[in-house]
This record gives sequence, structure tokens and C-alpha cells, in this order.
Amino acid sequence: MSSKPRNILATSALPYANGSIHLGHLVEYIQTDIWVRFQKMQGHTCYYVCADDTHGTPIMLRAEQEGISPEQLIERVHAEHLQDFTEFHIDFDNYYSTNSSENRELSEQIYLQLKQAGLIESRMTEHYYDPEKEMFLPDRYIKGECPKCHSQDQYGDGCEVCGTTYTTTDLINPYSVVSGAKPVRKETEHFFFKLSECIDFLRDWIDNGNRGSSPLPAEAKNKLEEWFDAGLRDWEISRDAPYFGFEIPDAPGKYFYVWLDAPVGYMASFKNLCAREDIDFDSYWKKGSDAELYHFIGKDILSFHALFWPATLEYSGYRTPDQICVHGFLTVNGQKMSKSRGTFITARSYLEFLQPEYLRYYFAAKLNDRVEDIDLNLEDFVARVNSNLIGKYINIASRTAGFISKRYDGKLGNCIDEMDIEPLQKLQRAADDIADLYDRRQFSEAIREIMALADIANEYVNDTQPWVIAKQEGQEERLQQICTTGINLFRILTIYLKPVLPELARQVEEFLNSEPLQWHHSNELLLDHDIQKYKHLAKRIEDKQIQAMLDKNQENLKATEEKESHSPTRHAQAQQGEHPAIANTIEYDDFAKIDLRIARIVKAEHVEGADKLLQLTLDIGDQQRNVFAGIKSAYSPEQLQGKLTVMVANLAPRKMRFGVSEGMVLAAGPGGKDLWILEPDEGAQAGMKVK
Ligand code: 2FM
Ligand code: ZN
Repeated sequence: MSSKPRNILATSALPYANGSIHLGHLVEYIQTDIWVRFQKMQGHTCYYVCADDTHGTPIMLRAEQEGISPEQLIERVHAEHLQDFTEFHIDFDNYYSTNSSENRELSEQIYLQLKQAGLIESRMTEHYYDPEKEMFLPDRYIKGECPKCHSQDQYGDGCEVCGTTYTTTDLINPYSVVSGAKPVRKETEHFFFKLSECIDFLRDWIDNGNRGSSPLPAEAKNKLEEWFDAGLRDWEISRDAPYFGFEIPDAPGKYFYVWLDAPVGYMASFKNLCAREDIDFDSYWKKGSDAELYHFIGKDILSFHALFWPATLEYSGYRTPDQICVHGFLTVNGQKMSKSRGTFITARSYLEFLQPEYLRYYFAAKLNDRVEDIDLNLEDFVARVNSNLIGKYINIASRTAGFISKRYDGKLGNCIDEMDIEPLQKLQRAADDIADLYDRRQFSEAIREIMALADIANEYVNDTQPWVIAKQEGQEERLQQICTTGINLFRILTIYLKPVLPELARQVEEFLNSEPLQWHHSNELLLDHDIQKYKHLAKRIEDKQIQAMLDKNQENLKATEEKESHSPTRHAQAQQGEHPAIANTIEYDDFAKIDLRIARIVKAEHVEGADKLLQLTLDIGDQQRNVFAGIKSAYSPEQLQGKLTVMVANLAPRKMRFGVSEGMVLAAGPGGKDLWILEPDEGAQAGMKVK
């Protein structure tokens, strides 16, 4: 490893200020934090900044739903986020907010620079508008009927039931999620950043970065090349009032789109730190800076960080990032995190039952520098923590430390016997390799190497058998030597694991009466030195802790959903369900084409991999039908079994991802929990026609 001191600024993506931190988020914060802690242990100057991403329509509407101001909402969420991060030992140098004076000034200044460079243009564009709420609607706020399978309440980009993708204009009976009104198209003026004119710069930057090599992992670079080939479109950077954000200078009623000021939030958070700690902001951000800039992000926000952000910086007089470190998504037990399966685990639910460092260790054991999804398999999680972290690493201390306190008054021996030197040297010699792996974000390989070293340490303890020596007379000196070697092996492993397990390392430092361990301390041995009485450092995970966490998490998710179902937005939807707009008139013959039948639900089951669907077996007298119904949010299979309901029996069979659906059951309500299937009055029999 080069010993030249580096000046580094690292960031993680700014989480939105309207939701809780979950384990999916934590992949990135843990990844960045490990990397930053490692750099600091090397003696480099490395700052880690982040902030809440506070602007945009969802935050404005969420505050309105809660009956508070956006400022009150973002203040509360900021405290919650920071608490979660702190408990996971994410050690930001500054955790700020994009709703800050520094961010406003920097965003305005960057915008004006881009304007001066001739890269801002105003154009008339058409957008969806909610005439009742009198606001323009982001796409996620428009739902409607899928043009293909006719499932209700689908988003404008695609149907979650049949998997068809389409655009918002294809939705049948679109409605605004905010008010329930039918959205209309409306013209408005917007500002655009002319990204199409930055293509030569961007092509060069993704090939050569700032220092002659690509700033992106290969998979991300390939993706960008695809985008270049398809042609870059200019980027709309403004939004109309009402909007929670920064008003654009000289453009009353127009606001910066949240994605314009969010990455500027990296700079603003750093600027705020600079003022507090007297750091030279310009030496990190001005063009020509030789400080290194690393952004850690998820693959879903690649375009913002690898197209818009470097172009924005380049043409407003700032330096560009050195590396965009892109990670994949988190899956739980091999599947996308899901609220209905209870695997959308929040940081809070985890923290109530499990040690934060166990998750840090598990993620580290899976992370590398590639854009790969990582899986949290809960069984594997328990097994790895128990067998590797506790069984291999902690075990070394617990097998040797007791003798030092009981027999030698807590004092380590004053030399290492020649026959014990080999394992110590093996561990010490690995320092540079492991450092290189951490630096290149090959954490899983680093952990593999460290665990192989823990095997060497355990072999040493097994071979020298201190518990046997302890019973032999005249072996006092030998026992002290063995245990001293054991403690030194443990200390070196602690140094290598410290970026991942900072709190455990702190406790080890306390136990060893040691100054904070740095990387170079692995070269030195602890001899003739007093240590504290050994206290148990970590406990095995029990399966019941996992179950308790999942149960509590499910309970919390339900409570949140419940709260949201009473919000004005949901209320607007519910009202729409109660007083639906009367559809176009049809003739009786049209109605008569629909064969409605009473159906008995003989079986209702969950569908593996489907968030919204239940699989129903329906008896309609002389035959049985298999139907997939999007009612899982409102019913459990047990509630349905044996019930009578009404089905459309002559709907063309539809091939879905999970099988063929042979009809449709009828239900009322706006969706989610507010959904009620139709039940006939007593006396109706399965198979009867409904007329
Ligand atoms: O996707 C998100 O969660 C965004 N809030 C990330 C912003 S990162 C940065 F650019 F600010
Ligand atoms: Zn569909």
C-alpha cells in the first residue's frame, strides 16, 4: 500500500426524508462506512458526508397528510435517520439536510453558471395536471386500469399484476392519487439542462475519468454506453408550484427539481462541515483539485450520478468525481424485499433484536466492487455470524484471556517464544494484501482472508492446548507465552476487522488497555503489558431472535399502513370508490355479454413471488376455475375459504406469470386494505347466473 497521505471525500446517496431507513439502504451506508473507516485507519484524511434529501412532491404531500409543515416533517425524519445510522455505527463526519442555506446558495450558483455557459433553455412542455388539487402530478401519482388485463390501481409505467409495461397515457380511467380527480394534460414552461451538448465531455469522462481510467465499474460503464448509443435527451430541471424546494432565481413559481439540488447536497453538507472544522472547501471541489471524490450509490440512480452530475459539475467550474461506486439491490431470502412477505425490514426492527455489527459483518462478507445484488439469507446470516464471527474470531480471546487474568494478574508475557512466531508472522504479513482488498472494495475477499487467518490462530490454540498446559506443573511460563501469543493473534485480527466491527474493536481496545488501533499497529506486538479481565464480547444469534424481529417488523409495517390508510390521500381515493364517476352508458346487450356467476371459493392460497395476488379455486357448479385475484392486501386465504362470491365466468383466460387465470372475482373499493369482495345474499348457490 502506498503510504502517501490522501485527501478523500466520500458520500453515500441521500435518503429521502419521508420514509424509514431499511436494510436495503444500509447496504450502501455500511459499505461506505467500512471503506471510510479503513482509509482513516491508514492515516489518510477521509471525510464522509451525507444528508437527508428533503425536497419534492412526495415530501410535500406526506407533510400535508400528517397535518404538519414540510419543515416539521424533515426535522423529525432527520432525527430518526440519524439515530438509525448512529446505532449502526455509520460514522458520518456530517449528516446534513438539502434544505439548507448552503445548498440553496450552491444550487443557485451552479444553475447560474450553467445558464451562463448557454446550457439552460426554457421550453413549453405538457404534463399531467390534477384540476382539483391544482397541481402538476409526477407519474407515480397517477394510477388507473391496466389496458391489458384490466387490473385496477396500476401505476402509469406498468402493471404489477400482468407485468405489461406501458406509459401513463395508456392507462384506462386514470385518476390522481392525490385527489381522485381525472388528470388532464396541461402546458407549462420548464427549464432544461442541455445534456445533449455534453456528450463529448461525458464520453471522455466515462472512459478516462479524472486520472486516466474509468470512474465506473464495468457493468455501469456498459449501461452508459447503451444510453449514449440511444442518444441523450435534455434534462428537465424545473417543477411548478406547489412544490417543496428552492425557487429558481428570476423565475417565480418555478422550483428546482429535487434531483438538481440533491447531489449539490453533497457539496452543501461538506461546506457546512468545512465551516465547522476549518477545512478548505475549494481544495476539494474546485476544478484541478487533487483531493479524491468518491460517490457510493445504488444501481437505480446511476444516470443521475454518471450523466447529469458530472456534466453539471464540469460546466459550472467544479471538479468531477473520481469514482462512482455502484452496488446492486438487497434481496432477502432470495427475493425482492416485500412488505407483504414481511421482508421489508426496517433498521429499527432489526436494532430491537439484533446486534448492528452482525449485519455489518454479513454485508461485508458479501460485498465487492461489482454491481451485483446481494442476498440476505436469514439462515445463512445466523450460521455465518455464529460460526465465523463468534466461533472463529471471538473464540480466540475467550480461550486464552482467562488464564492471563487468573494466573498472571492480567499481565502478558514479555517475549514470544520462537516456536510461536510463525502464526504471528503469517498474520502480520497479510496486512498489505488485506489493505489492498479493502481499498478496492473487495470486502468479501478481505473477510475470506481474515477468516483464513482466524483458522490459523485457532489451529495454534488447538495445537498448543493451553487448557492442558494449565494443569501441568512447572509450565507457568509456557502457559503465559501461549496465551500471550493467542491474545496477540486476536489483536491483529481485531485490527483487520476494525473497519467492519468498530464497536467490538473499541471494546477490545478497552480490554487490551490499548490506544485506538491503527492499521500499522499490526506490525507491533503487545508484550509485558497489563490487560483487563476478559468479559464476554459477543453472543451467538438464536433463531428465535430472527423470528421475533420478523414478527415485530410485520407489526410495525401494518401499523404504518393503517396510519396511511387514514390519510387524506387515501381518503380521497376511498371517496372516489364511494362515489365513482359514472362511466359511459352501455346498452343492455353489452351488459348481457358478461356471464356473472356465483362462485364458491373452495381454496385460497398465497402465490410464491406475488405481492398482491391470491390464487383462488372457484366452484361454479359444474366446473372449477383457477383465478388469480389482486386481493392479498385485504384478505388472508383463511378468510376466503368457503365464502361465496361473484365472478366473471366468460372472461378470456389470461396467461400470467404464475399460471393461467380463468376469470375474475368482483370486488369493490379503492384498493389496498380497502377492498371488499362481493358476497351474495343467503340462499344463492355456486353456479347460479347473476342477472
Ligand atoms: O434515490 C434516492 O433515494 C435519492 N434521494 C438519492 C439522492 S442521492 C444524491 F444525488 F443526492
Ligand atoms: Zn395488467
